[in-house]
Amino acid sequence: MQPVSIGIDLGTSGVKVIALTQDGQTVGSSSATYPLLTPQPGWTEQHPSDWLSGTTAALKTLMLEISGRFEVIAVGVSGQMHGAVFLDSSLTVIRPAPLWNDQRTAAACSELDAAVPDLIARTGNAAVTGFQLPKLLWLRQAESEHYSRVAHLLFPKDYLNLCMTGVIASEPSDASGSGAMNIHTQTWDDTIINALNLERSIFPPLQPSSSVIGTVTAEFAVASGLPAGIPVIAGAGDNAAAAIGLGVSSAQPNVGSVSLGTSGVLIAPLLEPKMQAEGRVHLFCHADGSYFLLGVTLSAAGSLQWLRDTIAPGVAFTDLMLEAAAVPSGCEGVTFMPYLSGERSPHLDPDLRGAWLGLSLAHGRGHLTRAVLEGVAFSLRDTLEVMRPLVKLESLLAVGGGATSALWLTIVGGALQTTLVKPALEEGPARGAAILALVGAGVYGSVAAALEALAPRLAPVTVAPDAALEQAYSRYQRGLAAARVFKG
Ligand code: XUL
Repeated sequence: MQPVSIGIDLGTSGVKVIALTQDGQTVGSSSATYPLLTPQPGWTEQHPSDWLSGTTAALKTLMLEISGRFEVIAVGVSGQMHGAVFLDSSLTVIRPAPLWNDQRTAAACSELDAAVPDLIARTGNAAVTGFQLPKLLWLRQAESEHYSRVAHLLFPKDYLNLCMTGVIASEPSDASGSGAMNIHTQTWDDTIINALNLERSIFPPLQPSSSVIGTVTAEFAVASGLPAGIPVIAGAGDNAAAAIGLGVSSAQPNVGSVSLGTSGVLIAPLLEPKMQAEGRVHLFCHADGSYFLLGVTLSAAGSLQWLRDTIAPGVAFTDLMLEAAAVPSGCEGVTFMPYLSGERSPHLDPDLRGAWLGLSLAHGRGHLTRAVLEGVAFSLRDTLEVMRPLVKLESLLAVGGGATSALWLTIVGGALQTTLVKPALEEGPARGAAILALVGAGVYGSVAAALEALAPRLAPVTVAPDAALEQAYSRYQRGLAAARVFKG
């Protein structure tokens, strides 16, 4: 039987699992969804038990699909970053896990800033509401009974690894999104932990992302259909894993990625930990031991989805795109500010709000739609401008649902003034997790060797210089000044 690794991506809306051959072919996949809880405005949570049941269900289906033809040799998990799974000393989940997009921690971020004035120099990141450490500080303040029981603090994918193997472990790509890891040493930062009066023992041991942490237990084998005893690697945060799946790494520091999903994510690889002085873009550890800068526009394709749901319910996205394509570049004066959920990069301001500006009777739905496409591209440009002094990007791999639109790709390429490249295949973070598992299983000697063998084929997208778009970007910057006045 042909050997395969299993890659699991524990996302926010659901889990995806794939089987990958040693030469990078996906030979099976399955998925399952689970609910997102919003118990209060600005709060987002999930039940770790839902992650577990979704994953075992998806694995069962995948194992049936590949059974008799393929032999599973290793498993790797990637997951939504920043979430906080609080466990007591008997490894019981204490409360639902607050997620990466949760905004309850503003006061905790101020506490963190006050206790650790050199936080950015230590961690490469500002105190960001979505990160993990502020969630722990929030718990101490808001739910002290729960806090007193915390014996372990895990990221979402680490909880799944614990369920699979019985082993508590984490790795640098997720840990660098906590607020408590020293970016230079890639270890938990005792100065931060002591300044906040926290227990060092609640933070899990860190291992390299592609290293083996343990093996699938008999109990998990029964629940999932995976063979007992196969190795499980430490895995990676979803952005690092997605970059691995695309072949984005410091081996080619001038090739980054732009993802047009619900949120928009820009990634630029780095050999050394170079941070933006004010933490306006994130600095995370990569799964190959190097680093990358990451910027998030919170409402990217999410803005388009919102427009469709509120203004054009039932209208197909392809029809909206055709209407937008009929409007000239620059949108005849209409500007959209995409801050529907506040903004992460580069403004770090949860209170910014969205707007269309410059409307007149001459404008129609096509203008509203095109302005959304342009506004999201401009917010990515704002992030790229902050990254530019730190990186030398020549091209960006364009991925995510929004990148299937030729119109949106042209607009994003024009706004970013950077060559965009479409990869021939796109499996997202699950592929990266499966590639890391192949390294863990010894099929490849290193992550670099795996990337050299498995990077996808690429097709460049031609983008012509666009003066109208450039003019529209300067209007957008005036719009940002206005949005700062009209905060939520
Ligand atoms: C990155 C971030 C998101 C989550 C989504 O900082 O918050 O991309 O990782 O899963």
